[in-house]
Amino acid sequence: MLDLSPIRAELAAQYDLSPSLAAAEATRHIHARMARVMPFPDWAVYAPYVIAIERLKRERNAVVLAHNYMTPEIYHGIADVVGDSLQLAIRATEVEAEVIVQCGVHFMAETSKILNPAKTVLMPDLEAGCSLAESITPAGIAEMRARFPGAPVVSYVNTTAAVKAASDICCTSSNALQIVEAMDSDTVIMTPDQYLAKNVAAQSTKRVVWWEGSCIVHERYTPEDLRDYRRHEPGVAIIAHPECPPEVVAEADYTGSTSGIIDWVTRHRPAKAMLVTECSMAANIADALPEVDFVRPCNACPYMKKITLEKVLWSLHSMTGQVEVDPAVAVPARRAVQRMIDLSRQLAGG
Ligand code: 13P
Ligand code: SF4
Repeated sequence: MLDLSPIRAELAAQYDLSPSLAAAEATRHIHARMARVMPFPDWAVYAPYVIAIERLKRERNAVVLAHNYMTPEIYHGIADVVGDSLQLAIRATEVEAEVIVQCGVHFMAETSKILNPAKTVLMPDLEAGCSLAESITPAGIAEMRARFPGAPVVSYVNTTAAVKAASDICCTSSNALQIVEAMDSDTVIMTPDQYLAKNVAAQSTKRVVWWEGSCIVHERYTPEDLRDYRRHEPGVAIIAHPECPPEVVAEADYTGSTSGIIDWVTRHRPAKAMLVTECSMAANIADALPEVDFVRPCNACPYMKKITLEKVLWSLHSMTGQVEVDPAVAVPARRAVQRMIDLSRQLAGG
């Protein structure tokens, strides 16, 4: 675990990080993007970090790629690019800066690195993992191939580079069904998320078989929870992520990737909405959608929440937390990710 005491001492010696209403005033335009969810006095705590990080980004020629599950002070405060896993992977192929700071979890930073082997990719906390990525190794892929000979392996991007390298192609929650459908085989192996696989299987013309992994955030929702919310919040639009079990998805009005969820709520602007996903999502879009009343059950991802402004500042200051991928793994892993990106573009007609 990162020992924060020496880090704090070094940062305090180098930067003025005390809560500051003057710093908050100077960055009021940034706070305006999250005013509904962050009281202005709280912003006075974060603003000095945002100012220091922005200065270091310029000095280091760095860009911050942030997942939709980051907290508002990261998502609105320092991110240059925000998005779901597919969007972040695609944008990672377009980065011109020398340094990428990945605000998300480790597999996302690995994906950025395998797409940009010559760039420095920083992970503010290298221990920000993922229950799905931890659930399978290349041996698990070999086991599935032995059980279903000849079937292609479609691995969720929520996997290590080594698992991607052992797979035929990757997918994300926004393109999983299309990728599976595009496979030239009647049987398709999906790893490691059993629920994403089951949700795809329900719509697919293929026989989909899966690994038994799950996301510790989305597996916690139950159909009873959703029915209770509907009873207590009449008229609420319920929007779920496909990492939820199929019985939960069946109770939802729409299911999609994190960006799919944002797009759906932005287009439909329901009076009341409940996002059945990680809890920062609703916080991040609350100000852009003032007419939507968000019912906010809070299932936080403990891995995503390891990323803080303090750790971002530290990684940029010290250039620590560099993500490396062995080229012997990176090359085949890149093939699987690039194949997904190319197929997604082709299917979108782009
Ligand atoms: P997407 O942003 O691709 O929907 O993925 C959600 C997720 O759980 C990432 O860890
Ligand atoms: Fe992994 Fe779930 Fe956290 Fe996403 S929300 S990083 S899938 S544990």
